[in-house]
Amino acid sequence: MKGYFISVEGGDGSGKSTQIKKIEAYLREQGQEVILTREPGGTPVAEKIRELILDPANKALTGRAEMLLYAASRAQHVEEKILPALAAGKTVLSDRFTDSSIAYQAFGRGLGGMVAEVNRIATGGKEPDLTIFLNITPAAGMARKNNQDGHELDRLEQEKAAFHEKVYEGYLSLVKESNGRIADIDADRPAEEVFADIKKHLDRVFGFVATK
Ligand code: TYD
Repeated sequence: MKGYFISVEGGDGSGKSTQIKKIEAYLREQGQEVILTREPGGTPVAEKIRELILDPANKALTGRAEMLLYAASRAQHVEEKILPALAAGKTVLSDRFTDSSIAYQAFGRGLGGMVAEVNRIATGGKEPDLTIFLNITPAAGMARKNNQDGHELDRLEQEKAAFHEKVYEGYLSLVKESNGRIADIDADRPAEEVFADIKKHLDRVFGFVATK
């Protein structure tokens, strides 16, 4: 029995939370046992690391320290939660995974190749079977987000537009080099249309037989 590992990536205003709910509901409908989780975080220890990373008060955190904290959170998450769930035949659905570190730390912060190296250590090389990338330009994402109820911005959301542009370039480069693991989904559309595209990828990976 093999569990599938699915991650979802996307910036502000990409509709990531909405699509994750739809994916979870669909997989359950198809009879999968789904473990929904997130990064940074996903286990009690990793959630403590998350608080440290996202706290707007931690302005002094350096790029390398940030990279290592995300990786530490991921190492704990993989070993304590993801691998045991997959071994038990469950489907793991993670809000973000290693691609976030490549996009934000390698490209956004400009830390380059060391980020992939550190993450190989953190994950033991574990990669998702499928990654859904909700593709929306930072400008379009920001416009959408500003239409939503205001919430206080965390430390990463407070970064300037130029940082988010670099992160976005990072994702585009990851898509190109992923050999099909990352599904590039146009997210600047109504949620139902976006999900219809995602569903095709889920059906392909899980081998669900279409009912209509
Ligand atoms: P979160 O509140 O989960 O944001 P979102 O709703 O955008 O997923 O905060 C996670 C933030 O951390 C988000 O800005 C992306 C960033 N991040 C990294 O920079 N590197 C990483 O490896 C991960 C997992 C997240």
